[in-house]
Amino acid sequence: MPSLISSITPDLQPEFLQVVDYIYRRMVNLQKGANVLILTDSRMPRKTVIAFQGVAMMMGAEVMVAENRHALPIPMQPSDKWNNMVKAASREADIIVDMSVGYGDFMAEFTERGGVVVSPGDGPGGWCTEESLIRTMLHVDLDALRKEAEHIAALFTEAKTCYITSEEGTDFEADIGDLEGDPLDGFLWDFEKEEYRTSFVFLPPAQPGVIVPRGRGDGVIALDAVIQADPAFGQDYPESPVFVTIEKGRVVDIAGNGFSADRLRIWLESLNSEQAYNGPVHINIGNNPRARFSEISEFERVRGVITFGMGDVSVLSGVLGMADDMEGNLAAPAHWDVVMKRPTLRLDDKVVSENGIIRSELPPVG
Ligand SMILES: [Fe+2]
Repeated sequence: MPSLISSITPDLQPEFLQVVDYIYRRMVNLQKGANVLILTDSRMPRKTVIAFQGVAMMMGAEVMVAENRHALPIPMQPSDKWNNMVKAASREADIIVDMSVGYGDFMAEFTERGGVVVSPGDGPGGWCTEESLIRTMLHVDLDALRKEAEHIAALFTEAKTCYITSEEGTDFEADIGDLEGDPLDGFLWDFEKEEYRTSFVFLPPAQPGVIVPRGRGDGVIALDAVIQADPAFGQDYPESPVFVTIEKGRVVDIAGNGFSADRLRIWLESLNSEQAYNGPVHINIGNNPRARFSEISEFERVRGVITFGMGDVSVLSGVLGMADDMEGNLAAPAHWDVVMKRPTLRLDDKVVSENGIIRSELPPVG
């Protein structure tokens, strides 16, 4: 994995204040008097928290910082139970800036009450957050990125079938006829309609795609980029592909690269949960030209990669307000993500990306 150490400094970078200002103004539409609750833990540098705290104060918001114990490792977060103090504070908040929790059991209740969440490091971004957000947001045309993400989301919405193939051996399809694409571009507020577009965003942007109901999707996915599953191994970058066979939205076989395949198989068995094998629960294509394979979850936004979310979808569908529309038991002890580096994505007969390269001229919508 490429190192980012040379880009990380002990001091707050002035560019980061520009990024935070952009997030509050353009993505969250933070207003004077709003109640902002910042959730963090000791893994997040204080300077990074201060930037979000101070800029919100400058804009006239009421700000409270709550530093909590470490949340469980990312894949295990659906199993985490948050203490009542955090829940009580969230009841008085309008906006949560989540810098540690990721998925949390109280987040769905919070968004149900009309609260909105922005997660600048997609959960516990830690020391990478500042460098990552400057690189992927300040150095990128975010309006163009958003437009492209919206276009791809619209292609997902109109398509009946999603096909994913790759030279590494991916050959997968899923019925998405009734699903709505989501640009997942980080913008909470719609300045034209003057309303919230969604209740939960994570950064950096973007990864347009769909949340997939239970029982859908058949074929093989060849994982040649990242497997974020067993917390003991963090992000696993397999040296040769791991082949996961999926039938009717459920993992039935894991083969290929012995070491990585064994890790995944043994970890899934250890969870002792049939639900953990469900998936994909989300399918997304990254489109950020500056996102890299780094320590934080920006790997899902790397331009052209496709991520499958697996296992739990109760928390994700909950924070997005979609849980009531989805059938079956959505909960699992873990939510794990797997990434294909250079797949081809076809939505019906429209080719969105080829061998990991998103078309510079996307097929038209309609
Ligand atoms: Fe995921």
